[in-house]
This record gives sequence, structure tokens and C-alpha cells, in this order.
Amino acid sequence: MARAVPSASRIPKRPRSRRAPKGARRWRLRTAAPADLETLVRHRRRMWKDIGGRTTRELDRADGPYRAWVRRQTRARRFVAFLVEAPDGRVAGSGAIWLQPAQPRPGTLSRETMPYILSMFTEPEFRGRGIATRLVRAMLRWATERGYRRIFLHASTMGRPIYARLGFTAGNEMRLDLPVRRGRPSPRPAAGPGRPGRSARARPGARGGAR
Ligand SMILES: CC(C)(COP(=O)(O)OP(=O)(O)OC[C@H]1O[C@@H](n2cnc3c(N)ncnc32)[C@H](O)[C@@H]1OP(=O)(O)O)[C@@H](O)C(=O)NCCC(=O)NCCS
Repeated sequence: MARAVPSASRIPKRPRSRRAPKGARRWRLRTAAPADLETLVRHRRRMWKDIGGRTTRELDRADGPYRAWVRRQTRARRFVAFLVEAPDGRVAGSGAIWLQPAQPRPGTLSRETMPYILSMFTEPEFRGRGIATRLVRAMLRWATERGYRRIFLHASTMGRPIYARLGFTAGNEMRLDLPVRRGRPSPRPAAGPGRPGRSARARPGARGGAR
């Protein structure tokens, strides 16, 4: 990201002159702990629900794999989630960074991961108060402090203006939805560049190439 990451949040703060009473809680941004896993799974599901286009069955079936994936990625130190807590302790919003595997590129030869923002969600009653903005800024700081030079995400229609205001621009990614194949996918990639794997060559009608 070329832009500096401002540290101020737009969540309304208590006036500086008035001290919070002892023990009073404030809006708090923190990284997620193992005990937050179910909140992250719930937020992820509700993010997809609000984005739309997924059936309840698809949402139901996605919870378990996401939970397992978060556990695995966290253990591999490739996943860190951030939460904003309201003064009453409820989690108002969350988002996460995944350090996804990356191939060496000129200029970034030593980095084998690149940060990717995912699972951005704010509870409807807390929307429009800068929570997502605050989460993204925290993630930008986190990635900048670790020497990353770029960060990625896929934006929903609701999220796009927030990211655009923070300096995100659309890149040169292209994509194509591939035809659905029947049968179990092979866990192994094809044998090499331009060469179909053995199993693909052996089966009549099978097409080579990685899935
Ligand atoms: C997208 C989403 C995460 C945004 O969460 P949010 O906490 O409401 O986001 P913010 O408050 O930071 O910004 C939202 C709006 O509030 C405005 N805002 C920010 N701080 C504000 C404040 N202190 N007072 C009033 N408005 C404020 C922003 O200008 C922004 O308006 P705009 O988008 O019309 O330009 C939330 O709507 C959501 O969970 N949507 C469903 C899932 C989804 O689409 N997730 C994103 C996937 S990429």
C-alpha cells in the first residue's frame, strides 16, 4: 500500500477531558484468541449471507471446513483475526489476514507469502460507525510492520467504498469459472508444465492440468 496508514479510528471516542470511570469499558480492537473461533465462523457465515447468492445449505456446509481451515492456518501462523469489541463486551465486527502462499517475483524474492484480507463483517446494529475501517487500518499496520509491500482482498459491493477510501485500487486479476467435473478430484497436481499427469493420460477422455 502506498498510502500511510492513519492510526485514528472513526469510532466515536469519549471526550479526552472526561475520564472514564474506573472499570468502565471502551471500544477495543484486539487480535482474536482461540476462544473467538466460533465468533469468527459465525461472522464468516453472516458475511456470505449478507453478500447474498448462497443457499442455506451451502452456508451450513461451509461452517465446518472454514472452522478447520482457520485452525490449520492459525497453527501454521498464516492466519490472524482482528475483532472490535463494544463497551459491553459484544464483538461488533471482525476481519482477518491470511498469509497466502506466493511465488517469488522480481522485487519480492524472499517472500513466500502475501497478506490477504478476508471475512470482513460488522454486526448490522454497529454498521456505519467506522468499525470495518478501523479493522482494515489495523490489518494494514500489521502487514506494514512485517515488511509486506502489498495487500489483497476481494471486495463485496458493501465493502468496496471502505477499501477505496483507504487507497485500495482494482488490479489486473482476471478469472474464469471452469466447468464442473464429476467424480473425486485428484489430490495431486499434473506432472509438470504443459504435460498431463500419468492418470490423466491413462484414462480415456480425462483432461490433464491442475485443478
Ligand atoms: C461491509 C461492512 C463490513 C462494513 O462495515 P462497517 O463497520 O459498517 O464499515 P464502516 O463503518 O467502516 O464504513 C461504512 C460506512 O460508514 C461510514 N462511516 C464510517 N465511520 C463513520 C462514523 N464514525 N459515523 C458515521 N458513518 C461512518 C463510512 O463513510 C462508510 O460509508 P460508505 O460505505 O457509504 O462510504 C459491513 O457492511 C458488512 O458486514 N457487510 C456484509 C458483509 C460484507 O459485505 N463484508 C465485506 C466483504 S469484502
